[in-house]
Amino acid sequence: MIKTSSFEGDHILSVGQFQRENIDRIFAVADTMEPYAQRRRITRVLEGAILSNMFFEPSTRTRISFGSAFNLLGGEVRETTEVKASSLTKGESLYDTARVLSGYSDVICMRHPQAGSVAEFAAASRVPVINGGDGPNEHPSQALLDLYTIRREMQARGGSIDNLSIAFIGDLKYGRAAHSLSKLLGMFSNITFKLVSPKALATPLEIVDALRAAGHSVEEFDSLEAGIHNADILYVTRTQEERFPSQEEADRYRGLFRLNQEVYTQHCEPSTVIMHPLPRDSRAAAQELDDDLNSNPNLAIFRQTDNGILVRMALFALILGVADTVTAYERPVPWKSTRR
Ligand code: NCD
Repeated sequence: MIKTSSFEGDHILSVGQFQRENIDRIFAVADTMEPYAQRRRITRVLEGAILSNMFFEPSTRTRISFGSAFNLLGGEVRETTEVKASSLTKGESLYDTARVLSGYSDVICMRHPQAGSVAEFAAASRVPVINGGDGPNEHPSQALLDLYTIRREMQARGGSIDNLSIAFIGDLKYGRAAHSLSKLLGMFSNITFKLVSPKALATPLEIVDALRAAGHSVEEFDSLEAGIHNADILYVTRTQEERFPSQEEADRYRGLFRLNQEVYTQHCEPSTVIMHPLPRDSRAAAQELDDDLNSNPNLAIFRQTDNGILVRMALFALILGVADTVTAYERPVPWKSTRR
């Protein structure tokens, strides 16, 4: 369990380690990161610090946003992006890799295909480790950025996280982002969970049981139309085909639920927020989240990715103990942004 006053030196391995006040603190620090994320201000508060980004599974936004977040605080980033390119293929243990890398870095982000591997790595590391996704298990920083997005989207619509109704849609068995977000939401009050999946890809029973035990309403659906009715948030996910025992089995579930503008118009409230951890599968056979929603103002997927920078900056600032000294290390911005 995280110490209540500070995160200094802590690993971030599972959302289960947080209490609500920890989440409030992360979000308060994330709010202060916006001018730096938007390059209106520059800080060098992590000058001299090194992040090792160890991604042993495909990743685009998680890896780049952890790296960018660290750079935006003034730190430097080293990366390994393939198991093939690391000594793990030579038979090196996670223990040895952790002992070596933690001598080269001040913090490590790691993604690995096996559940529990990042915790095993962290146990041998001499520096804090952030879980960037361990197989089908957990993805805590994604859940934090999703929850931060939900909070902002609900506030903009006059609502809150408490009393929310959220539909999780798709592969809820292997989807680690959905697992971590469900657990995190379970810490709030009176949430209605609408779990929309084929029976074989349902949310793990221990998560459902824990949510019910905490007093939340959990309903399961195998029809998209029935499940999204009356939800404030739709959290759409892709079939995690890389986790299936065979490609044939994954193919069986591809394209089963397709959210598009027509379905949305017919079955959702005009203010229902659409989220997805991304990547969405835009191949013709899948399309769980159709491109025709791109102009829907309630599509929050790119607000999620932007928010990911703020939340990851907050995690680094808290873990390395600089959350309150960021402004003291500001520099003038010498260049003009051409961003549109
Ligand atoms: C997710 C993941 O890797 O679990 N992606 C991400 O980090 N944003 C979801 C997915 O791959 O479907």
